[in-house]
Amino acid sequence: MIDSQALLAVLRRAPVVPVLIVDRVEDAAPLARALVAGGLPALEVTLRTPAALDAIRAMADVPGGVVGAGTILDPAQARDAVAAGAKFLVSPGATPAVLDAALELGVPLLPGVATVSEAMMAREKGYRVMKFFPAGPAGGPNYLKALASPLADVIFCPTGGVTAENARDYLKLPNVVCVGGSWVAPADAVKAGDWSRIEALARDAAAIRP
Ligand code: 3PG
Repeated sequence: MIDSQALLAVLRRAPVVPVLIVDRVEDAAPLARALVAGGLPALEVTLRTPAALDAIRAMADVPGGVVGAGTILDPAQARDAVAAGAKFLVSPGATPAVLDAALELGVPLLPGVATVSEAMMAREKGYRVMKFFPAGPAGGPNYLKALASPLADVIFCPTGGVTAENARDYLKLPNVVCVGGSWVAPADAVKAGDWSRIEALARDAAAIRP
């Protein structure tokens, strides 16, 4: 049984979920603190670097934050992420194995979908909140708008190609709860430890209104 309400409660806390690539574990806590201070509490740490699981552990202690794991490609990664403290999972696609693994773990998953059939398959397993990925290349706001009527009980978090400039175009759609994006934590700012710049980007993102 999927607790869509618990996931929505997290995703509704801010309009943007930062998508994070953490190369150095020592960056994790200050990065999370800057984003939370800027008003973005839900954080997605992608499992794309060797430091990712330790980064999740480090961020889990940051007050006010809710740390999830992204780029979940298989059940083993889902289990590892939850063991590290991830409170939600995000996958770029929606394989039956990953959909089932999250159900078994009892941890909210945002499965990635880019087509109506993928959304219907995730829906058949009980999922009602999904990541629309890659949002820009897959069709952007117009595509997502066209899903609102036929998939009336599905809510999306578009991610991939979402920017400060176009986020509002997604957020104003009735079937969008939030957007995901990496623009609030640019690689050069993380590398330089420029946490004040990241906090300012987070503040601007948190202020985006539909
Ligand atoms: C990703 O998987 O990299 C995310 O969707 C972020 O995409 P973005 O870098 O276009 O925001």
